Amino acid sequence: MTLRDWWQRQRQFTPTLAGELDWLVRQVTGWDTLTLKWGNRSGGEFLPRLEALWHTYTQTRQPLQYLVGTTSWRNMELQVAPGVLIPRPETELLVDVAVQSAKNWGGTDGQWVDLGIGSGAIALGLLRELPGIHVHGVDCSEIALQIAKYNAVALELNHRLTLHQGDWFTPLGHLRGHIQGMVSNPPYIPTHLLATLAPEVQHEPRLALDGGDNGLVYLHYLVQTAPAYLCPGGLWCVETMSGQTEVVVNLLQQQGGYQNIEIHRDWGGHDRMVLARWGG
Ligand SMILES: C[S@@+](CC[C@H](N)C(=O)[O-])C[C@H]1O[C@@H](n2cnc3c(N)ncnc32)[C@H](O)[C@@H]1O
Repeated sequence: MTLRDWWQRQRQFTPTLAGELDWLVRQVTGWDTLTLKWGNRSGGEFLPRLEALWHTYTQTRQPLQYLVGTTSWRNMELQVAPGVLIPRPETELLVDVAVQSAKNWGGTDGQWVDLGIGSGAIALGLLRELPGIHVHGVDCSEIALQIAKYNAVALELNHRLTLHQGDWFTPLGHLRGHIQGMVSNPPYIPTHLLATLAPEVQHEPRLALDGGDNGLVYLHYLVQTAPAYLCPGGLWCVETMSGQTEVVVNLLQQQGGYQNIEIHRDWGGHDRMVLARWGG
C-alpha cells in the first residue's frame, strides 16, 4: 500500500480527524499535501510508524504532539512531552505583539521574563526576535523546565535564557525594578470548564490550564505584582481567554500606574491579549 492510499483510507474512516491526520503525516514524512496527493514516491517506508501512531491516537486521543514528541511553532521545532503544555498557534501572536511594542517604545534590550515558561516557546520566540534581550523563564513544573532547557540548547539560545523553578515572580527578587518586559501565558481557564475541553486537552497538565474559579486568579496576581518588578516604561503583556480582556483592562486601571493599555486580537478576531506599560 502506498502512503497516499493509506492516507485516503484513514480520511474516509475518520473524516472529523482529517486535520489531525494531515498534521501527523506532515510531521512524520515532511511531505506537504501537494506531494502527498500528486507526488510519485510511494512513501511505504513511513507506514509502520504512521500506522502505530495513528492507532494510538485514535484509541487514546493523546495529543499527536506528545506521541511524536515535537511541534512546529514560529518556525521552530520544539520538543514537547506529557507534563508540558503544547504551545498553541495563537500564542505565536503574543510574541509579535510584545516585539512590536518593544520596538515602538525603544525597549528592545535588558532583562525580560516569561512567567510560566512551559516548553520555552514564548521565551525562545522573543530571544530570536530581540537579539539584545536576556530572558528569565520561571515555572513551578520541573518537567516544563527540563523541556524548556532542551529546546533552548537545541536552538542555541541557552546562553541568553536563565531558568528558575518557583512560583511566578518569587525567584526573581534580584530583578526588582529592573525588568524591561514581562510576558506570560498563564493558566486562565475557569476550573468548572476544564471537564468540557476536548479529549486531547484532558491529557495536558491541569497546572497549565486551571485559572481558578473565574479563570482570573493568575492574571490578577500578575497585575498586582508586576509593578514591583518592572522598570519604568517596562512592558506588561499577557494572553487571556476570549472574554477576559475587558476584566483584565479594568484590573490594570484599578491597580493604577499602568499606561498605554491595549487589547489585541487573535487570528479569529477574538480579543486575546492585553498589553500595558508600567508608568513607574
Ligand atoms: C498556559 S501554560 C503556558 C506555557 C507556555 N508559556 C506556552 O505558552 O506554551 C502555563 C504555565 O504556567 C505554569 N505555572 C502554573 N502555575 C505556576 C506557578 N504558580 N508558578 C510558576 N509557573 C506556574 C505551568 O506549569 C505552565 O507551564
